[in-house]
Amino acid sequence: MATPFILSAAYEGSFATFESLKASAFSEFAFAGRSNVGKSSLINYLANKKEMARTSSQPGKTQTFNYYTINNKFYWVDMPGYGFAKVSVTLRNKWKKEMETYLGNREQLVTLFQLVDSRIKPQANDLEFSRACIEGQVPLAIVFTKADKKFKNEVRKNISDYQDELLKFVKMVPTIFITSASDQTGKEEIVDWMKMLLEKN
Ligand code: GTP
Ligand code: MG
Repeated sequence: MATPFILSAAYEGSFATFESLKASAFSEFAFAGRSNVGKSSLINYLANKKEMARTSSQPGKTQTFNYYTINNKFYWVDMPGYGFAKVSVTLRNKWKKEMETYLGNREQLVTLFQLVDSRIKPQANDLEFSRACIEGQVPLAIVFTKADKKFKNEVRKNISDYQDELLKFVKMVPTIFITSASDQTGKEEIVDWMKMLLEKN
């Protein structure tokens, strides 16, 4: 078997604001999406670690930019979720502002993975986020999460509907990945994508 690409993964630090992020020569891949969509679970699955990123059934767990160093060479960034009603409006607006600043200014950002729950119908806030990223020329890829085997039919329909909805306002759908952290599927494609882009940069 080929040597796995992800050889090491370690928590680096948490940063509440764009201003506090370190200047760094490392390339980074960020993970964004609605609260509870499975960002932290995906990061653990990609890293093959159980509890590196803290997960929770309670939305709003990740409240800062959480940095993980991969292979001592690049970063993964776990971002706070958007669209979580139970967090105060003030806090939500603050996260939104920090995220927008990050997406518009972080030159090291290679790909923003927007995670979308494949078990539910296309949601306005997810579509709006995709649209804003595409129009803002953020290097976006979409990861449909929670595509567990037992939900195969809904998953297929929801993903296809999401793409149709997106095509109403953008010309091209970004690259798409389909994952289940529970079933442990979809990792290879994402890792290969990272590998390809790191070799190019
Ligand atoms: P915040 O940090 O609150 O924004 O959430 P998050 O996006 O990091 O989500 P997290 O990884 O904490 O997961 C949220 C919930 O979804 C947890 O209860 C997970 O166990 C569950 N979950 C994550 N991935 C999957 C999956 O592939 N399948 C299923 N069925 N559940 C999942
Ligand atoms: Mg999280």
